[in-house]
Amino acid sequence: MHDLVQVDPQLLAKLNRAVPRYTSYPTAPQFQPIDESAAIRHLRLFDASNKPLSLYFHIPFCKSMCLFCGCSVVLNRKPERQQLYLDHLCQEIDLVARNISNKRLVTQLHLGGGTPTSLNEEEFDRLMKKIHEHFVFSEDAEISIEVDPRTVFADRGRKLTFLRQLGFNRVSFGVQDLDPVVQEAVRRRQSEEMTVTTYYKARELGFEGINIDLIYGLPHQTVERFAKTADRLIELKPDRIAFYSYAKVPWLKEHQKAIPDETLPSTEEKFRIYVDARTRFMQGGYAAIGMDHFALSGDPMAKAYFNKTLTRNFQGYAVQMAEDMIGFGLTAIGYLENAYFQNIKELEIYQSTVASGHLPVAKGYVLTEDDLARRKIILSLMCHFEVGKEVRSIGVVEPLIQEGLLEERGDKLLATPIGRLFIRNIASVFDAYLSKGHFSKAV
Ligand SMILES: C[S@@+](CC[C@H](N)C(=O)[O-])C[C@H]1O[C@@H](n2cnc3c(N)ncnc32)[C@H](O)[C@@H]1O
Ligand code: SF4
Repeated sequence: MHDLVQVDPQLLAKLNRAVPRYTSYPTAPQFQPIDESAAIRHLRLFDASNKPLSLYFHIPFCKSMCLFCGCSVVLNRKPERQQLYLDHLCQEIDLVARNISNKRLVTQLHLGGGTPTSLNEEEFDRLMKKIHEHFVFSEDAEISIEVDPRTVFADRGRKLTFLRQLGFNRVSFGVQDLDPVVQEAVRRRQSEEMTVTTYYKARELGFEGINIDLIYGLPHQTVERFAKTADRLIELKPDRIAFYSYAKVPWLKEHQKAIPDETLPSTEEKFRIYVDARTRFMQGGYAAIGMDHFALSGDPMAKAYFNKTLTRNFQGYAVQMAEDMIGFGLTAIGYLENAYFQNIKELEIYQSTVASGHLPVAKGYVLTEDDLARRKIILSLMCHFEVGKEVRSIGVVEPLIQEGLLEERGDKLLATPIGRLFIRNIASVFDAYLSKGHFSKAV
């Protein structure tokens, strides 16, 4: 592997620009207030097609706030608040289903958050029954859930077992860092025992595509300290590792301001933590996939990367089964017939809108031909690190070639080894709206 630690500090500083993570294109700041009728039109348009479908459900609740968190979270310790939300989520499913043929085939379902495992067994059961009332899953459907190990440890695997019985077959665990000093600094206390025991329980239950989320750039992390977390996780051999750059967006997430800047690693150190752990993962048998994912070579995500069917959606990298996705719940985003739709962000307004019989869509964006062409280029770069030379008519690539991020080969433009680490910067050249958003930094 190239010794990428040698990236010139000046180049690093130059590349450490604010750039989107491109979980969508156009990115969320481009979304505009949109009418319920547009969402209904796109649901019906989609229904007239024979395309596969993905479903996303957002469960926003967390019992405590991790200081680094950039997700859409509602702090909550009241079970009745969660039940009320679930009532409305089930009503939203009924409202959407009015515009979709009964028993429509679904190839992927994902429960994200917040903390989906804050739901209890009865609530999970209720939600899944409601989903099954309107949709049918294909035999090979991926039914996945984000699991916070802290919420499934005390019951000795009972909830995980229940989820498996309900049909869930993929899990993703939030870990971030095993180091207690880092955990203390971000207010996320999660013992190694919790993580390891939960992981083995998931294996024993036969979950596949087991993923572990890690973050680099957190307070007090150093190359040496993070290496211990990386090595321990490699021993566990999860099928996938998502290794996210800490997205510092204090203008959106007030609680991030509670992390003192002086406790954060410098840009150079953050980059070294990434490069060192990346090397460890690769030496440990993982393929580097896209910008921030690693997968064992036999895993479907690694296969999708190698056969160029990998894709990207709001949950990050994904094995492409369906492009169209309906998002349910607070702040959930969907993509239907070349348009994004995002639900209301305020819990009370979301609930009252659903209660009045309306779809809770707040914002959206219908892509133009130009957007679609750029979206395709950005997806190709983010997922396959390459694009056809003809894109030169859309974005100015010469500076990227001069900086050593991109190279010409045959009729293709390929990201160089360093370019792969800065793929967001490369993609941003094709973003027509770059100046209109406020994003986290590239490193
Ligand atoms: C919804 S959470 C995962 C489920 C569960 N809430 C948990 O924390 O275990 C999704 C993941 O997003 C990542 N994440 C959250 N905030 C982030 C940030 N500011 N920068 C980078 N990654 C972040 C974390 O790795 C986290 O595990
Ligand atoms: S990282 Fe997970 S548990 Fe922590 S606040 Fe964010 S969503 Fe909640």
